[in-house]
This record gives sequence, structure tokens and C-alpha cells, in this order.
Amino acid sequence: MMKSCLVLVLFPVFISGCCPPKAWTGKNFANYASGKVHLEILQDVFYDNGMMTVHQNLTSDDGTLTRQTIYLNYLTGIQYVLNGDGRCENSSITFTGVGESCIPDNATISKSYIGAGANKIPTTMFRLIGNGFLTYLSVIDNGCVPLMYETTGTLPTGDGLKLTVEYFGVVAVKPDAKIMKMPASCMM
Ligand SMILES: *[C@@H]1O[C@H](CO)[C@@H](O)[C@H](O)[C@H]1NC(C)=O
Ligand SMILES: *[C@@H]1O[C@H](CO)[C@@H](O)[C@H](O)[C@H]1NC(C)=O
Ligand SMILES: *[C@@H]1O[C@H](CO)[C@@H](O)[C@H](O)[C@H]1NC(C)=O
Repeated sequence: MMKSCLVLVLFPVFISGCCPPKAWTGKNFANYASGKVHLEILQDVFYDNGMMTVHQNLTSDDGTLTRQTIYLNYLTGIQYVLNGDGRCENSSITFTGVGESCIPDNATISKSYIGAGANKIPTTMFRLIGNGFLTYLSVIDNGCVPLMYETTGTLPTGDGLKLTVEYFGVVAVKPDAKIMKMPASCMM
């Protein structure tokens, strides 16, 4: 009896059922580094049932500012990048696990919290491997709300990559349908 209790405690903990809200909006601050490219990215994020719209401002090391809107379709795995000049380009989605689907059952977890005393908020950090990327995703337990995301790996070009994303002001609301709609120039 005693022995089996100990075994339970000693094994790594796996849990399932952490699924972010089906619809949410928020702001992200992201830091992207790969090869010679280093970008600071501010994003307004809108998510609705497998579809994500991201308005983003990218600032490179030399101060160049680029504004883009990305339409990510997690159901097909394709993303559409609308540039400032109206051009739209499609490509495969490289990064997943940023709050758009349930966390896989085989992720290893570390329990923690933010805040102190009576106000502490339980959080969980998940460690995942997929697509050749090692990812740490922290969520607030109540609602599986994304908090922080960090991934490292190698891009198809062979360049190493590190991407860190911090989530601010996530609200579980359905975004405006107008924001989710792709412009005609992206419908290829
Ligand atoms: C991007 O920059 C524009 C102009 O400064 C600003 O209005 C917009 O809110 C910024 N977007 C984000 C996601 O920070
Ligand atoms: C991008 O769109 C073109 C034209 O529809 C298509 O042939 C191509 O397969 C698409 N690329 C990806 C990565 O989906
Ligand atoms: C979990 O499963 C995926 C795909 O089934 C696999 O690629 C990955 O290595 C597994 N382990 C972890 C820790 O994510």
C-alpha cells in the first residue's frame, strides 16, 4: 500500500484537459531571434475557433518598423500574411501551441503560481516537443489562459530560432467577425 503511494508521487505528472478559451482576444509582446534577424513584436490577437487574426508591429534591430496582419487558419495549417502594401502571401503555420488548441496529453508539467499570500493565482508550465521545437507554455490554471510561451528549435533554413511571447489582458470574448474576415487579396 505504502509503496504504491510513493510510486505515484515519484512519477512525472501528466494531466490532460487544459484547453484555452474557444474564443479570446489579447495583446502579445514577442521577441524573435533567428540568425541575424532580431525582432520586437507587438501584437493584437483575436482568436475564434481555430482561426486567429494578428495585427502586428515588428521592429528590427536597425529600427525598421513593419506593420502586418496575419490570418492563421489552424484547421488547414495555412497562414496568410497581409503586408502594408496590400500584398498577401500564404505559407504553412510554423508555430503552434500558442493558445489555439488543447495542450497535448504527453506534455510534462510544473505547477506554480503568480502573486503571493491569499491572492496567489495557480499556474502551470507545460514542456512540449513537436515539429523539432522545444516549447514551454505557462498558463493560468483557471480557464487555461495563456501567460507565457517560449520556443527554441531550428527552422527549415537551418537557422536556430528562439521565440518568446508574453500575453497581456487576455479576455475570453468572441472577436468581431469583421476582424476575423480575410480580405479578398488573401483569397488565393
Ligand atoms: C502599431 O502601431 C500603430 C501606430 O503607431 C498603433 O496605432 C497600433 O496600435 C500598433 N499596434 C500594436 C499591435 O501595437
Ligand atoms: C499558397 O497558395 C498557392 C495558390 O493557391 C498554393 O498553390 C500553395 O500550395 C499555397 N501554399 C501553402 C503553403 O499552402
Ligand atoms: C509528445 O508527442 C509528440 C507527437 O505525438 C511527440 O513528437 C513528442 O516528442 C512527445 N513528447 C513530448 C515531451 O512532447
